[in-house]
Amino acid sequence: MDGQNLLHLTPSTEGIAQAASLLAQGRLVAFPTETVYGLGADARDGRAVAAIYEAKGRPSFNPLIVHLPDAETARSYGLWSDTAETLANAFWPGPLSLVLPLRDGHGLSSLVTAGLDSVALRVPAHPAAQSLLRAFGGPVAAPSANPSGRISPTTAAHVREGLADNLAAILDAGGCSVGLESTIVGLIETPRMLRPGGVSREDIDAVLSVPLLDATDGTISAPGQLLSHYAPRAAVRLDVRVPASDEVFLGFGDMPCDLNLSPAADLHEAAAQLFDQLHKLDATGKPIAVSPIPAYGLGVAINDRLKRAAAPR
Ligand code: TXA
Ligand code: MG
Repeated sequence: MDGQNLLHLTPSTEGIAQAASLLAQGRLVAFPTETVYGLGADARDGRAVAAIYEAKGRPSFNPLIVHLPDAETARSYGLWSDTAETLANAFWPGPLSLVLPLRDGHGLSSLVTAGLDSVALRVPAHPAAQSLLRAFGGPVAAPSANPSGRISPTTAAHVREGLADNLAAILDAGGCSVGLESTIVGLIETPRMLRPGGVSREDIDAVLSVPLLDATDGTISAPGQLLSHYAPRAAVRLDVRVPASDEVFLGFGDMPCDLNLSPAADLHEAAAQLFDQLHKLDATGKPIAVSPIPAYGLGVAINDRLKRAAAPR
């Protein structure tokens, strides 16, 4: 339990093998995905999964996403359906998680599902995540590799700042290209959007034959459950056109500001920059003002994260 012993690994053959062997020993390994860095543990090993909750200081009834190398492996954990097949074909590997009914004989620790009879499954596209999952050969439970309620990590340095003391190793492959967590779609009855993320609702609607419903009261609460989440230390103010003199200003589009999510007003670029720029502005210790971000495509997920960052706490 000290940052001194933290191994810094690169995604070389040797680095991947070492990371996989640490997972097999029940240790925690932070690894890159195209969305954010994950804090990984063997999803079958209850003690290892407990260490994730402990490291994040996470409310323990918040279930974790199980990461797998391909849809074929995913089928042995969740009950498959035509809709699951359609979504997996369209978006896996990639920034989409599917919540499916748990399959008998799944072998996952009940801590992963927080005792629910459903499970969130994801097949990440990042080559280092793919190599690690194949080398390990088992299901990897991984929340974002940040302390609960803090800004999500999109670089190995972010992970180190937040969690260094609780980790065996960080697999460092640079920045995350998507920069926002995966979109979560629930397939328990009719398909529902449980969390906006790296795949837009428009793209999902384009492949589904039924409309994607919103998460509603009475269904399992998905992420975001806690309103104040992704929170910088400083106060955050949204939809600001003219910042106050003591604020640092996060811009979007061509405008004067301290940091710009995307000078070209490209929502993909803005998503990829979001958490890194919030980390940087937070480090100034000043309150953060954010310019308006369009509310379509990936802008929905960006606004969702910003709203949580700005929520009273
Ligand atoms: O992009 C991502 O999804 C990242 C990377 C590391 O893969 N992971 C991530 O995990 O964002 P996390 O733990 O921060 O968010 C997972 C969310 C939880 O907030 C939880 O509410 C939801 O997934 N979830 C997991 N299992 C669920 C289930 N059975 N039903 C409903 N929601 C579930
Ligand atoms: Mg998270």
